[in-house]
Amino acid sequence: MQYDSAAGFPIGATPGLRDVVAEAAGFPRLIRTVVRNLIEAWPAEVYRDGLVEARFIGRRTVFVSDPALIRSLLVDQAAALGREEFLTRSLSPALGKGILTSDGERWRHQRRIATPVFRHDRLRAFVPAMSAAAAATRARWQARGEAPVDMLAEMMRTTFDIIVATMMSGEGGLDTERFGRAMNAYLDQTTWKMALSLLGAPAWTPHPGSRRGAAAARFLRGTVADGIARRRRSGRSGDDLLGLMLQARDPESGEGMPDDSLVDNLLTFIAAGHETTAIVLAWTFWLLAEHPEIEARVLAEIAAAQGAPGGPNLDALAYTRQVVMEVMRLYPPAPLIVRKTLSEIRLGADRIPAGRSVHVPVYAVHRHARLWANPERFDPDRFDPARSAGRDRYAYIPFGAGPRVCIGMGFALTECLAILAELLPAFRTARLGPARPETRFKVTLRPHGGVGMTVSPRR
Ligand code: HEM
Repeated sequence: MQYDSAAGFPIGATPGLRDVVAEAAGFPRLIRTVVRNLIEAWPAEVYRDGLVEARFIGRRTVFVSDPALIRSLLVDQAAALGREEFLTRSLSPALGKGILTSDGERWRHQRRIATPVFRHDRLRAFVPAMSAAAAATRARWQARGEAPVDMLAEMMRTTFDIIVATMMSGEGGLDTERFGRAMNAYLDQTTWKMALSLLGAPAWTPHPGSRRGAAAARFLRGTVADGIARRRRSGRSGDDLLGLMLQARDPESGEGMPDDSLVDNLLTFIAAGHETTAIVLAWTFWLLAEHPEIEARVLAEIAAAQGAPGGPNLDALAYTRQVVMEVMRLYPPAPLIVRKTLSEIRLGADRIPAGRSVHVPVYAVHRHARLWANPERFDPDRFDPARSAGRDRYAYIPFGAGPRVCIGMGFALTECLAILAELLPAFRTARLGPARPETRFKVTLRPHGGVGMTVSPRR
């Protein structure tokens, strides 16, 4: 096995389970850590070792950083794993029991129905809608002239427009601004729900933002349910995500999805898809502004790919894709994958009992001293096919791995390329301040306080 870094894990000598800290998790400290930034509480060993056990936010937790063990966990022993309650409890009030928040046969049935909807050829059909949303952002920026922007907010708006346009293209009545505000209000208070769940407090316990969150969940679910009802009444299916989901059938049972599951999953696609992709794009603009030589290569590649009817040929943007992959290595929008063992599992020589929390600290794996040479350096050439050839597939997991790998992976990558191809050639961007934004875990890994940049039209 070969790694980007010369060291790698010694083959056949994966570091075994090590108990690293006996953390005293008092109530105020736990709340502060979870609400502020969960990642700060990770033991330092997750960046250096392969398998460690720690008392983490009040419970025994196994951290898996070794790629071979990540594969063993998420792929080979996936059937022995379930969702962690703190995650489902914080998301289910809005997302119900959809693909992201369910387990067992309920998950399998929904995943079988939805997987074909995200097929490569279907995604191709969404590219014009993606480019159109990016063109709206371009028009907005052009009208403003040279101006400071919060790139994260700009990209959130763009990716939100895309998910709404590709999902319910026919629903002209949707108030996208209000819908977007409600989605943010909901997601903003989920870390409180997580903290309270970890403390064993009942689900109804009030917390900052809880009333707004509950109202937002009702509004979001009602709006999507109305959209589905209108579409059913209209008798047309449509070729957007809603239409495809209405037509989709479980290949094993032939059953479609009932309306409440459709609500769960359409909201899941919005929640799981728009902020994650916006974070990648905001960081891409920031890092390209920091590295003009890399930006020049991207611009040259986009220029060469122009000219195909219907917009640039996204398949020709190989280097731009490497840039996006490297951005997701340094700033994985989903920085942590969590599971609970349903039965005993084995990781290397170690046995992990049933009921244990097992975490894959994606952010740490992507910056692991033994897996990556100069892990902090932004270097898209790492993903050059020749340099990637010997790298363990499970050293790089921005979309997870195994049966629960992100269903929207192709959608997100296509979207990133479509947006960059539209905006980068039209605007010069610069960082507003020298300091990189701090990152905080808010289910996703958010740049705290936004990403301040200036945007000016290129002559
Ligand atoms: C750059 C953007 C994205 C990133 C980094 C990302 C990351 C991830 C990761 C790491 C997982 C696995 C979580 C786990 O194993 O517990 C996941 C699952 C999921 N993602 Fe994404 N995602 C992105 C975009 C999207 C988009 C655009 C959609 C939908 C349109 C989407 C829908 C989902 C769903 C439904 C799941 C649950 C899959 C399952 O449990 O079977 N994601 N995502």
